[in-house]
Amino acid sequence: MPGTKDYVLADLINNETYLSGEKLSSKLNISRAAINTAVKALRADGYVIDSSTNKGYKLTEHPDKLNAGELLALLPEKRLDTITCLDTVTSTNKIAKDLCYDGAPAGTVVLANHQSAGKGRLGRSFISPPDTGIYLSYLLRPSLSPDKIATISTVTAWTAVAVCNAIENACGIRPEIKWVNDVLVNSMKICGILTEMFVETESGLITGIVIGIGINVNQKQTDFPPELQEIASSLSAQDGGTKFLRATIVAELIKELDRLAANWPHNASEYLAMYRSSCVTIGKEVDVVSVHTDSKDNARRGVAVAINEDFSIKVRFNDGHEENLSSGEVRVRGLYGYS
Ligand code: BTN
Repeated sequence: MPGTKDYVLADLINNETYLSGEKLSSKLNISRAAINTAVKALRADGYVIDSSTNKGYKLTEHPDKLNAGELLALLPEKRLDTITCLDTVTSTNKIAKDLCYDGAPAGTVVLANHQSAGKGRLGRSFISPPDTGIYLSYLLRPSLSPDKIATISTVTAWTAVAVCNAIENACGIRPEIKWVNDVLVNSMKICGILTEMFVETESGLITGIVIGIGINVNQKQTDFPPELQEIASSLSAQDGGTKFLRATIVAELIKELDRLAANWPHNASEYLAMYRSSCVTIGKEVDVVSVHTDSKDNARRGVAVAINEDFSIKVRFNDGHEENLSSGEVRVRGLYGYS
């Protein structure tokens, strides 16, 4: 829930000129002293706010922060009811899962500035440094039984499209997708998606689906460890060092995820078309690797020929036979330094 400081910040962000203390206090229905206290607290957080006796307050330097006030400036106030903004967490997916079991509604968002134990796919970790990335989890509560597992797995591909749209809207960069859900800019991974589903064993009903999204935004290329130098990058590093306001990307992402939640899994055609046009895997030589071994020796080589209607990928193997794969690891030769 936003507090006084957040309301003041949102108003300062949305006003290019000076905003009088009187106007602010009557709009927010709080005292002039409370406005002063909020401004002091915002300055302590790194916002540069000019104050002039006659004119009031003006935000003159807007640092890249993730907090409720930043989102309040960009989203309808009501949307903030189910968004939790935190500084450091273990994993936003873990918090969203706990909220899900506590009965949180569909559309609940958990956002953090830093993760100490960010989770990646296949039990890997996701490096989540403070102040530069976006770590966001979104709760879906579909009324689908788990036997619709093929349908459920499409959520991850839809999410990749939602992330591409959000980044394009916020940053003017159109990313590409490596099947199934790595989001790339200039062939470098700038976003990972981890979707987790929770099922009630007795009834077989889905308790919830948590979509976890991690976006590398403002890291320098040298911030990534040597073993990721050929694989991972950030939006900033791929855009000549441009610094992006993460809140702008988060707001676009929440709008896109709300749109996804309203459509999924029924109105697939638009998402399928966008997925197909963004997918870099098609036409490429690939190695299909067992998720259990991770070894190149067991890889089966072929060519990715199409994205099917259910978002599975059709691979023609070198012996001529074709398979449709709905999950697993498909390595693209020439991408991520993979030969
Ligand atoms: C991957 O590429 O392996 C998936 C990475 C997913 C990372 C995100 S960050 C927000 C959410 N919380 C987590 O612990 N993981 C996901």
